[in-house]
Amino acid sequence: MKFFIDTADVGEIRQALAMGVLDGVTTNPSLIAKSGRKFEEVIEEICELVPGPVSAEVVSTDVEGMWNEAQKLAKIAPNIVIKLPTTMAGIQACSRCKENDIKTNLTLCFSPSQALIVAKAGATYVSPFVGRLDDISHFGMELIEQIVTIYENYSFETQVLVASIRHPLHLVEAALAGAHVSTIPYGVIEKLLKHPLTDIGLEKFLKDWEKVPK
Ligand code: G3P
Repeated sequence: MKFFIDTADVGEIRQALAMGVLDGVTTNPSLIAKSGRKFEEVIEEICELVPGPVSAEVVSTDVEGMWNEAQKLAKIAPNIVIKLPTTMAGIQACSRCKENDIKTNLTLCFSPSQALIVAKAGATYVSPFVGRLDDISHFGMELIEQIVTIYENYSFETQVLVASIRHPLHLVEAALAGAHVSTIPYGVIEKLLKHPLTDIGLEKFLKDWEKVPK
């Protein structure tokens, strides 16, 4: 499974890069706003830092607007992926990007029928939001399982990118479901390694080591 980080915070990206496990980055308008920086400027810096795919989201809601933004963003760096909403206009813009060899990530996907259309339109990634479904008492992970099955049934090339991950178990369940990618907030990446028995065990080893004759 590929690990992307879900952030526009360059400090967090550097930390994740230092671990040597980072395959890419996803951003969205809320994360860009949180960074307090200019959109193009921060995306350019992220693309220089990370060799893998970097998703940058359009804010237009009509096809022409999305297509204009997509073309501009695609010029920033070769690893840019255009993030488009899973709407009628987003699907049309996705098809146009596909015809022009521009990679896409169809975001705000909440149903298997949406995911099916996303794959038919030739998207590079589909982003189903598990946490936001859990928030409204739907099992977000069921959606991941359904999409993985549908894509496998027809050998679609679109990769399932699990988004809105809130805790380590989301990641484990996404891996068990066979999702291609998980995009993980930095706080969750930190939690992935944490285990009290590791800390207790290490403390004991170091204490016992003091008794070894030197
Ligand atoms: O990048 C999209 C997604 O990961 C957002 O997550 O926590 O705002 O639902 P969240």
